[in-house]
Amino acid sequence: MDEKLIQEINEKTPILDLVSEFVSLSKRGKNYMGLCPFHQEKTPSFSVSPEKNIAKCMSCGEGGSPINFYRKIKNISFEQACQELAIRAGIEVKATNVRKEPFEKEFKLMDEAANFYQFNLKHSEKGHEVLDYLNKREVSEKLTDHFRLGYAPPFGNTLYQLLKDKGYDTSDMIKLGVVKQSDDGSYYDLFSDRLIFPITDPRGNVVGFSGRSLNPKEAAKYINSPESVIFKKGSLLYHLFEASSVIRKSKQVILYEGFFDVISSFGAGIENGVASMGTALTKEHAKLIKNVTSSVIIAYDGDRAGLKASEQAISILEKEGLKIEVLTIPEKMDPDDFIKAYGAEKYENLFAEFLKDPYQFRYAYYKMGKDLQNANDIKTFKLNVIKMIDYADASIRQIYLKKLSEDLGIPIEDITSKKMDIPTRILPKPDKKSMIDRHTRAEYYLIFAMLRDKKHAKTIQKQLKRTDFADHVAASIRSKIIDYYEEHEVLLLDDLMDTLPLDERSFLEDIILNDWFWKMKIEMQDIEILDYAKLVKEASLKRRLQYLNEKIKLSGDHPKDKDLKERDLVLKELKHKPREV
Ligand code: GTP
Ligand code: MN
Repeated sequence: MDEKLIQEINEKTPILDLVSEFVSLSKRGKNYMGLCPFHQEKTPSFSVSPEKNIAKCMSCGEGGSPINFYRKIKNISFEQACQELAIRAGIEVKATNVRKEPFEKEFKLMDEAANFYQFNLKHSEKGHEVLDYLNKREVSEKLTDHFRLGYAPPFGNTLYQLLKDKGYDTSDMIKLGVVKQSDDGSYYDLFSDRLIFPITDPRGNVVGFSGRSLNPKEAAKYINSPESVIFKKGSLLYHLFEASSVIRKSKQVILYEGFFDVISSFGAGIENGVASMGTALTKEHAKLIKNVTSSVIIAYDGDRAGLKASEQAISILEKEGLKIEVLTIPEKMDPDDFIKAYGAEKYENLFAEFLKDPYQFRYAYYKMGKDLQNANDIKTFKLNVIKMIDYADASIRQIYLKKLSEDLGIPIEDITSKKMDIPTRILPKPDKKSMIDRHTRAEYYLIFAMLRDKKHAKTIQKQLKRTDFADHVAASIRSKIIDYYEEHEVLLLDDLMDTLPLDERSFLEDIILNDWFWKMKIEMQDIEILDYAKLVKEASLKRRLQYLNEKIKLSGDHPKDKDLKERDLVLKELKHKPREV
């Protein structure tokens, strides 16, 4: 691809139009701003300059020229991006520049197989029975054609014979999984007596099949083509290619669980549906969606399994920064059942009435079936909600803390006051712990501070190494608290406790219940924490000094240079006397 051509493609691709397909923008002076599609953020820092014809994130730096933006957002090669944008801009790209499809042979074979199945559906006796079945399920001829539905005849090797006659290699048929070899060496078709759904990749090539059994007694309702060089279920969405122009136009995709949901929905006039084919949603699926739109409606089955899968899908889609809504289908039905039972119009109305944002959905889901008088249920419910709002912005946090406080009948401050679960038990009398030396007490104080606030934990992490703690249990807890904050903003004591061995749990219980910090309810000041940290550091240095002195003494006339040097360092550090506390 030569420089001049690249320049021409960039010039003839208006950046504003291009970016608008993926990001919703609002005007700010000469430029436009939106939420960066390349990283997760709450305030827009993705800036588009129509004047300079570039788009760039001021926060993560991703973006650039139209070609650069496009290749990043579609996750394709530079060459590929040039080609696609050239076509859009009506620029002719010489044949030498066009990359040859690497799997042309495989795609052709699969297309041939799809034609075979289609033919059998329409032109065989058994096929007509299947058409009757489809008819009963209200799948019209138009839908059958749009989805290229087919029928695999029973018991045999007719597909194998056909492909062989057409000159395809048996090894390719096996590799793509349409044909299998039996123990006696003969070949037979994988799909037998099944309704066939061809599955396309995002560019429209048939890459695999799913076959639905028509016999209710059959154990495997669906079987799929095995994974192959071109068929990877984790990165394919059923009907994505066929729906992509509608998705782009409507700026939204509907994510279903099953083939029949996509098909019925299409029949009901909602044509932007895709399905993840029964597998759990993956990051790759989310990226595929992101290539065509930034907004998803999850419309999984209304049963328990569907709700659970929706919750999981939310977290995958959220990580890709997609806007998410969830449709909960009433009466535990799947979308296909609902359309059959109530018709297209009622189905469409669901999108007005039953759409939830991801927080509303999860909150209701977490609360569902919980007995809010039962301690275990309360704990699970609370933890789920707290986790849900962990990274949410302040107003959402407030809304759900308030809801939680209402549902549990306790004040907001007691749920999580940016600190932690405060034990409401009556504090026992101080015991021998209050007699301990001030260095040890300082260690306890610091652990306590770490529990209370992430900010304190960070300070202490910076000031003190694990080995600075004389108490090895405290040292271990220090590390675990730091790990905990890697993933959470607020520490929930129960949550942490669950992960600790017995000795560490009782250590924590001790300092939490017995120590005077609680009773005084003192606010912990940064300066105070630094003082305690210095105290612990000093004790640690003194221990080290003692150790080094002994080692040097033992080595007689030949002390190690390394040890002498370290002792000097320790002595020097000890000169910085800690402030008195
Ligand atoms: P109908 O029962 O005909 O309405 O099909 P459905 O599309 O509603 O299927 P269902 O809700 O039971 O399952 C959702 C999706 O999971 C299906 O579309 C398949 O992709 C997948 N699936 C279901 N059953 C099986 C199975 O037995 N094996 C495999 N591999 N996938 C399945
Ligand atoms: Mn169904």
